[in-house]
Amino acid sequence: MKVFHTSCFFIALVIAVQSGPIPKQAEQDDAFAEAYLKKFYNLTTNNNKGRFNELSFKLAEMQKFFGLTVTGTLDSQTLEVMKKPRCGVVDVGAYSTFGEDLKWQKNQLTYRIENYTPDMSAAEVDDSIERALQVWARVTPLRFTRIYSGVADIMISFGRGSHGDAYPFDGPSGTLAHAFAPSSDIGGDAHFDEDESFTFSSTNGFVLFLVAAHEFGHSLGLSHSSDPGALMYPTYSYRDPKTFVLPADDVKGIQSLYGPNTDKPVSPSNPSPPPVTPSACDHTLVLNAVATLRGERLFFKGSFFWRLFGTNNVQQQLIKSFWPEAPDNIDAAYENTVQDRLYLIKDQSVWAFSAYDLVSGFPKSLSSLGLPAIVKKVSAALFNQNTGKTLYFVDNKYYSYDENKKKMDTGYPKLVEQGFPGVTGKITAAFQYRGFTYLFSDTRVFEYNTSTKKVLRMLNNNYFLKC
Ligand SMILES: *[C@@H]1O[C@H](CO)[C@@H](O)[C@H](O)[C@H]1NC(C)=O
Ligand SMILES: *[C@@H]1O[C@H](CO)[C@@H](O)[C@H](O)[C@H]1NC(C)=O
Ligand SMILES: [Zn+2]
Ligand SMILES: [Zn+2]
Repeated sequence: MKVFHTSCFFIALVIAVQSGPIPKQAEQDDAFAEAYLKKFYNLTTNNNKGRFNELSFKLAEMQKFFGLTVTGTLDSQTLEVMKKPRCGVVDVGAYSTFGEDLKWQKNQLTYRIENYTPDMSAAEVDDSIERALQVWARVTPLRFTRIYSGVADIMISFGRGSHGDAYPFDGPSGTLAHAFAPSSDIGGDAHFDEDESFTFSSTNGFVLFLVAAHEFGHSLGLSHSSDPGALMYPTYSYRDPKTFVLPADDVKGIQSLYGPNTDKPVSPSNPSPPPVTPSACDHTLVLNAVATLRGERLFFKGSFFWRLFGTNNVQQQLIKSFWPEAPDNIDAAYENTVQDRLYLIKDQSVWAFSAYDLVSGFPKSLSSLGLPAIVKKVSAALFNQNTGKTLYFVDNKYYSYDENKKKMDTGYPKLVEQGFPGVTGKITAAFQYRGFTYLFSDTRVFEYNTSTKKVLRMLNNNYFLKC
C-alpha cells in the first residue's frame, strides 16, 4: 500500500477536457479521494456547479494539514497519505472547535469495557485500555475508575460495519477506531473496528494500546494535531508501547483543558521528558544521518526523518511509521543503489531494508560490514555508485569498502582531510546527490566536488529542509 515513488506523476482530480478514455485506476482514485474528503474534511457540495472548486479547496486543506505541497489536485503523494490506516474522527469540521466547552467538567471519570476483541486475550485488552487511560492521567488531574455495569462516561466497545451510531466502520484497514468528544450519552465513548487485527505489542497488526490512547484523547476533548510526532496525529504509526511517553504537543493540548497533574509522582525516578518533534527551522540542528532512497532524500533526526520527494515535497514522519523494525536515533544511513537497499546503522548493529521491508537476516553486527572490531560506532556512511565503494566515517577518519571485491580497501582508516581536502571536523552525516558529495559536520554541511577535490559551498544542516 505504501509506495516509494521513483518518478513523480500527477493525476488531475479535475479533468476539464478529457480526450480519450479515462484510465480506470485514475477513476477509482478520484472516487476514493472524494469519499475520503467527505468523511474527514466535510466535503458536502452535491450539485455539480461549484463542486470542482469545493473538491480542490478541500484537497488543499487536507494537503496543508499533512504538510504536503498544497496543489489542490490529487497527486500521488496525497493519495498515498489518504491510503494510510487512520482514526475515523474528522480532521476539520465539528471537532476542530474542541475547546473549553467540550471538556469534562469533572476530573473523576468512569469507563466500562462493554465487549472484547477475539484478537487478544481479555487480560491483554484490559491492560491495554488501562495503560492508554494512564497516558492521560499521568499529566493531568484526571482519574479513571472502571465500572462493570451501567453507563460509564467512556463506554468502550468493539464492532464492525454498522455498530449502532451514524458512523459505520469500513472493513480492514482504513478507519481503525473513533471516539466522541466529552458530553453525555455517546459523548466520550470509544469504538474500535473489529475488522482490524489488534495486537498487544506486535508490529504485525495495530497495537490496541496506541489506538486506544489516541481515541481517549478525543474522549477527553482533543481534536487532531498536524504535528507528525503527536499521538493525536490522524494516521497510525507503530511505536514501542513499552517505552511510549506522551509527546509534548499532546501534553500541551490536554493540559490546556485540565491543567497539569498536581499529585506527587509515584516513582520519583526520573521519568522521560515528553518527546518534542524536531523543527526544520532550528538553526542549531545537527542531523543524525542522511541517505537517498529511490530518488528521495531522507534526513534523520531522533525518532523522525524528513522525506524530500517530487519537485518540492518535504514531509516529516516518525521513522517507525515507515520501518517499524528500525531503531530511533540512528548513527548512519546509506542507500546501496546497486542492491536497492537502505542501510541504517546504530551502535553495533546494522539494519537493511528493501523499501519498507526488513531484509531477512538483519539486524546484523557492525563487523558484518567488514569493519575492524576496533570500530564501536560509525558516525556517517555513504555509497558512491561511480566507484562502487561504501565509505564509513568514524568521526574525523573514514574507511573504504569495495562492494565489488567485498573487502575493505587497504590503507584505511584515513583522515577525512586527506581524502577530502578542505573538510574539517567530525563527520556526522553524509550523502551524495546529483554528483555532489555532502559531508555534514556539527551544524555545517560541506558541498564537495570529488573530481576537483574542492569544497564548493558551506551550508547549514537544515539547508535542504523547508523552514
Ligand atoms: C460542513 O459544510 C457545510 C456546508 O459547506 C456547512 O454548512 C457545515 O457547517 C459544515 N460542517 C461542519 C461541521 O463544519
Ligand atoms: C565537478 O567539477 C568538474 C570539473 O570542473 C565538473 O566537470 C563537474 O560537473 C563537477 N561536478 C558537479 C556535480 O558539478
Ligand atoms: Zn483521531
Ligand atoms: Zn462508532
